[in-house]
Amino acid sequence: MKLDIAVLSGDGIGPEVTEQSVKALKAVAEFYNHDFYFHEALVGATAIEKEGTPLPQATIDTCKKCDTVLFGAIGDPKFDNDPHTNVYPEQGLLGIRKELELYANIRPVIVYNYLLNNSPLKPENARGTNILIFRELTAGLFYGEKGTKEDGKVAFDECIYHIDEIKRIAHLAFKAAEKRKKKLTLIDKSNVLETSRLWKRTVIEMSEEYPSVNVELMYVDQAAAKVILNPKSFDVILTANLIGDFISEEASALVGSKGIMASASLGKKYSLFEPIHGSYPVATNKGIANPVGAILSAVMLLEHFNLQEEANAIKRSVTKAMELDLTTEDLNKEKPLSTEKVGDFIADYILNPDMTNFNIQNIYLGQSTII
Ligand code: IPM
Ligand code: MN
Repeated sequence: MKLDIAVLSGDGIGPEVTEQSVKALKAVAEFYNHDFYFHEALVGATAIEKEGTPLPQATIDTCKKCDTVLFGAIGDPKFDNDPHTNVYPEQGLLGIRKELELYANIRPVIVYNYLLNNSPLKPENARGTNILIFRELTAGLFYGEKGTKEDGKVAFDECIYHIDEIKRIAHLAFKAAEKRKKKLTLIDKSNVLETSRLWKRTVIEMSEEYPSVNVELMYVDQAAAKVILNPKSFDVILTANLIGDFISEEASALVGSKGIMASASLGKKYSLFEPIHGSYPVATNKGIANPVGAILSAVMLLEHFNLQEEANAIKRSVTKAMELDLTTEDLNKEKPLSTEKVGDFIADYILNPDMTNFNIQNIYLGQSTII
């Protein structure tokens, strides 16, 4: 298959982790004879510095010309503490989501057995957690009218949802639930918010089209506790933009390291894949960032294009790296590997799937992994 992939590696640790996911994709292309072409473009603080805007038109054009987008991270503390600027790196991400109409953000939350001890939960509560979160991504509070009144003492953010914006993501969530445990939890604040009531009415009506799916309705405050107390009770979660931001971040804390979480953002025409960890500024260029979230985002990219065998090859390599403890310091305090070496091992294993004898010493030295 020929795929043109826009690479927006962005800020902070974005470039170093994206380099590893590109490496994994190149290994897949080599092993399975695909033609993957990578097209780099600027976004976020890096784009502000070079082009004066967090989302240059050239970047939008590159994304629209390509088949899909691989995204790193954006955000730079330089812009966080300046109340006088109205240009932020985050506008690059919000802008690209809107430009490409990426309305469905899908975040799998899986607690892997080999990371059970890294979870803050008791192993018996964390074991078996496997949640698929559908977060609406191009409407709601993030995109409503907003402003500050002239006296500077009053500010507002409007939350608007059109029924069609709810339906299109709800269909995706229902379809995913049909293929999984047939349970869909709608998380909202419908005891207070009018938009939540529209979500609820819409989802209840739609449930008739999906008779095998059991719909559970839950207020967000209750859900926030339940994600911690009984994460296994969730299968597919469907929710609005801001609520999804909070709940997915909370759920990500369960898996042992935020560094391994991947996501897909899908629209009718375009798609974008990114790790959820963000730019992690203090870790930048130290070689300590976990590349697995970025690499598993590449897995989601391959799955999106129905390259399941290829996706499985990367997953097997990631599992192997974890099982052998060939991980970065967030998961391995005693003998951590660098971002690059974890990426090297994973790419090597994709190219040599029959490898059984690992020379761990060589891996640490950055030499061949094969004896
Ligand atoms: C995320 C991030 C973004 C969001 C920020 C960086 C705008 O937190 O992808 O969850 O809130 O959507
Ligand atoms: Mn977030």
